[in-house]
Amino acid sequence: MPFVGYYDGEFVELGARSVPIEERGHQFGDGVYEVVRVYGGRPFLLDWHLERMENSLKAIAIENPFDREGWIQLIGEAIRRSGEAEATVYWQVTRGIAPRNHVFPSAKSVVSLTVRPLAVSGSSAHEAHTAVGEPGPAQTADTAPQASLPPLIALPDERWANAYVKSINLLPNVIAKEIAHRYHAQEAMLVKNGSITECSGSNVWFVRGGELWTAPTNRFILPGITRRFVRQLAKDAGVPVHEEALHLDELQDVEEVFVTSTTQEIQLIGSIVTPVDKETALYNLPADLPSSLVSIGETLKTLWTSPSTPVVGLKLARLFRETVYRIQQGESPLAVIQ
Ligand SMILES: Cc1ncc(COP(=O)(O)O)c(C=O)c1O
Repeated sequence: MPFVGYYDGEFVELGARSVPIEERGHQFGDGVYEVVRVYGGRPFLLDWHLERMENSLKAIAIENPFDREGWIQLIGEAIRRSGEAEATVYWQVTRGIAPRNHVFPSAKSVVSLTVRPLAVSGSSAHEAHTAVGEPGPAQTADTAPQASLPPLIALPDERWANAYVKSINLLPNVIAKEIAHRYHAQEAMLVKNGSITECSGSNVWFVRGGELWTAPTNRFILPGITRRFVRQLAKDAGVPVHEEALHLDELQDVEEVFVTSTTQEIQLIGSIVTPVDKETALYNLPADLPSSLVSIGETLKTLWTSPSTPVVGLKLARLFRETVYRIQQGESPLAVIQ
């Protein structure tokens, strides 16, 4: 059973009609979610994901239906039923089922969950740098496929001011990601008052003078679990990490860019573009997908292009891959980092 579904206490077929009409998750987006990556049949950094979910639930006063052990059991059972070694587990906790009314009901919260075999996404560069398996030889300037690295598209950050809550309300993220998709970009890089916050579904990192910069974990970004892990990998590797948001004007000094997330791991980036006319990009999406970035021509301007081989990004991607390999061999993820 490679695809597993779970809704409110029962394992169900993934396509089953299980969500009642008056479930607040789909009527109001009144809930939170998490996603964990499964490597070698084991959920990666599950404790950190559960800790973040507890913070999200607390922030919007939804009752946590399980304790830590209950969550570990449920997620473990779902992975076991799927029989998958490489998968993603998504789960949502909503404020439950009650007659439509904005005011909080006295209903019990409801959990839905899916396990899916991993659909490998992203560019070949991503796969080359983060594919799981026995670590191969280190990437060198000659072997790094820099030219094929995907772009980011810079767009206004139109999300609410509590982006640290992993809310199921993803409309601004969905629209930004759709624009990125239409412009053949890996991700939408979100900009608030000139400062770069994060991407529509990942955290963004910059290398300057061989050191790392990423936005601080305040209310305006999601505290990524991969961000937390990569920050530790970097510190262990002696690469200083500055938790400060970069302004768009500072891109000129940037040597490398990469994004991190549970599903994208470490994705190296080759350029950053932005629409010349943001209103058009946001609200009048072109009906026809341009066949390549080049064909979009003057509708985009380039803010940054990779000046050289991404040395720090490649090093971290390699460390990440080695860590995953060690975990697959049975080591605990947290024993691998200090
Ligand atoms: C807005 C946003 N930022 C950052 C991330 C990265 O978080 P994580 O590393 O926990 O997957 C995500 C992942 O879904 C996201 O949606």
